[in-house]
Amino acid sequence: MESDKRARVEAWLRYGADLELGPYYRNRVSSSPVVYTNQPVVAPLAEPLQSPIAVAARAAGTSSSLSLSPTTPAPKASARFSAPVPFAQAPSLFEASDRIKDDTFQLIRETIGDCTRCKLHKARTNIVFGVGSMKAKLVFVGEGPGHDEDIKGEPFVGRAGKLLTQMIEAMGLRREDVYICNVVKCRPPENRLPEKDEITTCSPFLFRQIDVIRPKVICALGSCASQTLLQTTQGISRFRGEWFDFRGSKLIATYHPAYLLRNPSAKSEVWKDLQKVMGVLGLQPKRK
Ligand code: URA
Repeated sequence: MESDKRARVEAWLRYGADLELGPYYRNRVSSSPVVYTNQPVVAPLAEPLQSPIAVAARAAGTSSSLSLSPTTPAPKASARFSAPVPFAQAPSLFEASDRIKDDTFQLIRETIGDCTRCKLHKARTNIVFGVGSMKAKLVFVGEGPGHDEDIKGEPFVGRAGKLLTQMIEAMGLRREDVYICNVVKCRPPENRLPEKDEITTCSPFLFRQIDVIRPKVICALGSCASQTLLQTTQGISRFRGEWFDFRGSKLIATYHPAYLLRNPSAKSEVWKDLQKVMGVLGLQPKRK
């Protein structure tokens, strides 16, 4: 993009960000919803709203690829229309502008540096960047490092991590075949949930990692990861096991392994979700 155009778009984005419009535009609904199951279907908009850019483009008699559709008010779940969750079909104005051309893991890691952007840096031992294959077809996204991960600098190496490894192996894969990372890269103290400002600060690095990998499937583990990636505040049980689109990858949310340690009976639900992933990736379950 030419630099003056880029500057104008960036100013527009900053203005939108100040108004906290990001989730509003991300949560828009397309007239041909990307839904890979027979559920949740979201009604198309009768009259799509237009962004200022699209309105200006229309007035100038040109078409704008930046036209935006807004989200519809969430219809109530019914027998036919279950729990709709906002999702983005194509890169939104925000996403299109924050995709970095020729990005690499090295560049992302260098940009993170010895990060002090949020308060999580104060108590961390290591930045936990992510582990696995850069060519992975499957990416698992968790919440944030715990004690063991903070010490080792690697995601999912504690008790929940051992369970995740078993899940991956049950799918016929090895840890090194997939990519594993988190919404935040530094351990939240006392294993508390990452806070909004921490997620806002750190998640762009996760999005960049996903953009570099371009996996076929993203599996969001737990509420924090799935709500961050889908830009929703809905509870995970409303949309767990459904397919969504995330920047060109298929995304499915399932329960976090730590939740499974506390609620082993939910393992069967998670296994169903993982089987859907295996179906998309053409994987056979591991033979015992
Ligand atoms: N839980 C997470 O969400 N991530 C980790 O890396 C470990 C535990």
